Amino acid sequence: MARRHSHGKGVAQGAGSAYPVRMCDTTIDPRCRRPAVFLDRDGTLIEDRGHLRSPEDVVLYPETLPALRRLTERFELFIVTHQGGIGAGLLTAAEVEGVHRHLLRILDEGGVRIREVFTCPHLREHGCDCIKPHPRFLFEAASRYGLDLPRSYTVGDHPHDVEFGRRAGAQGIYVRTGHGEKHHAELAPDTIVVPGIGEAADWILAEDEARRRNGDLSDAIRRAAQMLAEGGVVAFPTETVYGLGAHALDPAAVARVFEIKGRPRFDPLIVHVADRTAAAALSSIWPETAERLARRFWPGPLTLVLPKSPVIPEIVTAGLPTVALRCPRHPIAQSLLRELGGPIAAPSANSFSRPSPTEAEHVREQLGALVPLVLDAGPCPVGVESTILSLAGPRPTLLRFGGCPVEDLERAIGPIVEAGAVDERPQSPGRLARHYSPTTTLRWWVSDAVPPDAGVSGLLTLTPPDARSGWAKVEVLSESGDLREAAARFFAAMRRLDAAGLAAIYARPVPEEGLGRAINDRLRRAAADHAGGHISF
Ligand code: TXA
Ligand code: MG
Repeated sequence: MARRHSHGKGVAQGAGSAYPVRMCDTTIDPRCRRPAVFLDRDGTLIEDRGHLRSPEDVVLYPETLPALRRLTERFELFIVTHQGGIGAGLLTAAEVEGVHRHLLRILDEGGVRIREVFTCPHLREHGCDCIKPHPRFLFEAASRYGLDLPRSYTVGDHPHDVEFGRRAGAQGIYVRTGHGEKHHAELAPDTIVVPGIGEAADWILAEDEARRRNGDLSDAIRRAAQMLAEGGVVAFPTETVYGLGAHALDPAAVARVFEIKGRPRFDPLIVHVADRTAAAALSSIWPETAERLARRFWPGPLTLVLPKSPVIPEIVTAGLPTVALRCPRHPIAQSLLRELGGPIAAPSANSFSRPSPTEAEHVREQLGALVPLVLDAGPCPVGVESTILSLAGPRPTLLRFGGCPVEDLERAIGPIVEAGAVDERPQSPGRLARHYSPTTTLRWWVSDAVPPDAGVSGLLTLTPPDARSGWAKVEVLSESGDLREAAARFFAAMRRLDAAGLAAIYARPVPEEGLGRAINDRLRRAAADHAGGHISF
């Protein structure tokens, strides 16, 4: 028997109310159906520590609570777990229920509501129909709660977690936590793979937001792909920033991107691809290091520079013998690439040297009239551009700090040299000193003192300052000092300060680690043209 663990009340509420309550019948009106996320337990929400017998064994991943809190606002949440230990006689059903009651309590205290936990207690050889990848629990939940399965998701660290979603007409997302690394090679090539539950939530919410903002989303993507195929230019979201895209193999379309951006032709573009295979086909050499990094970090905010294939037009690479390749981790960028069936050359969708756009509105403000179509998916979850790593020389060389922390890359392939340390010429024009700048003077501010012009100036800071009152405007990047959250808010905060008519913006450097290095790098560049006394390093 499959065990159910119900949390909270059923769907129908409000009976006996003094007011007439009109309940929409979800069985006949599909508009009333709610989308859901079905979450695997071990290796997805909590650490996989084998058969969990007691509540003390429950260890949530740090990203779990914030991720589920964001999802719970828009989705019904369920846990679907396989506890074969019960069938094998290694665990009792009561122990498993105790663990689930505890887990639901911590989630509940953290503001997360799980509708129900579905547990399959059988061994695979029992031949039950509730074990993943059988979709039985999904259909059961759908009929009990009136769910919209085509708009629902499954998330887990085993290929079965993806497959059981697919069988029910939902979308499966694979996480690399738990057993994720181990089974990675068994996945179908078009599987959505993300580092963990935090990025899975980013994916789901970005797609949901795009659905809300574009009406018929598939139709919007089809139209955008058609425009690209016909030589047009389209702005689209990626997990880092919005891009201004053209078909990468169409030189005239790419020329239009340079024109719209007002970008010098000597500055090459990044070529976006749907997967590793597409990337390997666009480079003339695909070294083992590229394969390793792509398997580990794609899709994601990492760009690899490699010797180019002759099929890439010269205009894309500005005459360089190398090409920058990137496989983005954003549902809309991925859908667009797959629908087009070809590579997209895209710089960030801002005017040359202005702060990068992390919302569709930023693109419209800067380039509106020149770009016929902006696919809108709300704010970009990572918020700083991709990390650029060159594999074209004798040693892996970092060309730009970005959304993929260098520490993570070094863990995968060993030491990385920083460009500039070996060669002072900018190897990547994104390293140009003046870049990403607001129009207001930006000052790199390490002092604890409040400057004399604070009353007419703004402060950009990671955490709240001791004295907020002295400043005309304060932008706090993350109340809790979280660098990922700070990166996601960075460019929008800079824009708000820039638009406030301030005498100056004082920017406090953030800790020099993880995404903090990408933030500091952009601050330094934004401050660079105000040298001559203003900047104190
Ligand atoms: O996150 C990102 O990378 C975003 C989104 C849209 O994907 N794109 C982006 O593109 O930031 P863009 O054009 O703003 O910056 C691309 C950087 C430039 O600094 C360019 O000089 C460098 O990549 N780049 C492109 N091709 C290169 C190559 N072959 N060798 C060295 N650097 C290259
Ligand atoms: Mg699992």
